[in-house]
Amino acid sequence: MDIKAYLREKKGLIDSFLESYFSAPLTPKTLQESMIYSLSAGGKRIRPILCLASYEACAKDNKVKAEDIIPYAASLEFIHTYSLVHDDLPAMDNDDLRRGKPTNHKVFGEGMAILAGDALLTEAFYMLSNNIKKPSTISRQPSAVLRVIREIAMASGVHGMVGGQAQDLLSENAEPDAKTLAFIHSHKTAALITVSVRSGGILANCSDDELFKLTKYGENIGLAFQVIDDILDVEGETEVIGKPKGSDEKKKKMTYPKLYGIEKSREKARELIYGAINSLETFDEKAEPLRSIARYMLERKS
Ligand code: IPE
Ligand code: IPE
Ligand code: MG
Ligand code: MG
Ligand code: MG
Repeated sequence: MDIKAYLREKKGLIDSFLESYFSAPLTPKTLQESMIYSLSAGGKRIRPILCLASYEACAKDNKVKAEDIIPYAASLEFIHTYSLVHDDLPAMDNDDLRRGKPTNHKVFGEGMAILAGDALLTEAFYMLSNNIKKPSTISRQPSAVLRVIREIAMASGVHGMVGGQAQDLLSENAEPDAKTLAFIHSHKTAALITVSVRSGGILANCSDDELFKLTKYGENIGLAFQVIDDILDVEGETEVIGKPKGSDEKKKKMTYPKLYGIEKSREKARELIYGAINSLETFDEKAEPLRSIARYMLERKS
């Protein structure tokens, strides 16, 4: 399949939803501008795309369309974008470039960047719960939506991304060890990626067996995604990755290349990606986009 065309099409759906979401003026205008600045700065939209792809992979009839669950998928991008705005702050990674543009705090100041992040995170849960009573297809039963909300909350906070970000900060300047490193990466990055995949499955009413396999897929690509991000921090080009190369080294972060070297890290990422693809063995051709996204992750340059 043409994975580039698939990603382009799905990114288009998410981008138009995000563009229209804040089209009405809000007060204060500066807060709205700060939120829109980071949301619309670009980004691969990989988390919402994974949610849509997994929804389609589990669809039981052909009336099911990715368009049905756009707000749920987009909520993941709100949470991800908030995490990037905060991750770049001077108190965290202290980076000046994100998605090829000056970071949020460079344009709006630290206070507004913190608040834009807070507002994006909160809005994600408003958006998720606001859709709960919309006319139901089987895929949008309130119980499925509630479960998705609960899982996204778990994956975003202390039990997931925020927990991983905290350990990332606590581990700056520390001698790397495999256990801590695996904790950081599986929490700060794989948790949100895994729940993106699971949410699509849950909203499509998938079976327990399917959800188990989707989870394996998500955990594997999620970890691989951060390993590759670490490699790109060393080997990528600032103009292509859209963020400052060498940021991890500057902050003495605990990373895969630091512990294992570049070659072993690449090997690790490859194993994880093939593990992810294997876990979808029993899925039919509707899961082809999920398989292709996994392969694409291995080759990505940004
Ligand atoms: C960057 O995520 C932060 C990580 C968790 C590795 P992405 O690589 O998905 O960033 P965007 O959304 O495309 O900018
Ligand atoms: C951040 O990891 C993961 C998040 C939850 C934001 P990094 O600090 O490596 O992400 P980049 O490289 O700045 O995008
Ligand atoms: Mg960081
Ligand atoms: Mg960072
Ligand atoms: Mg990084």
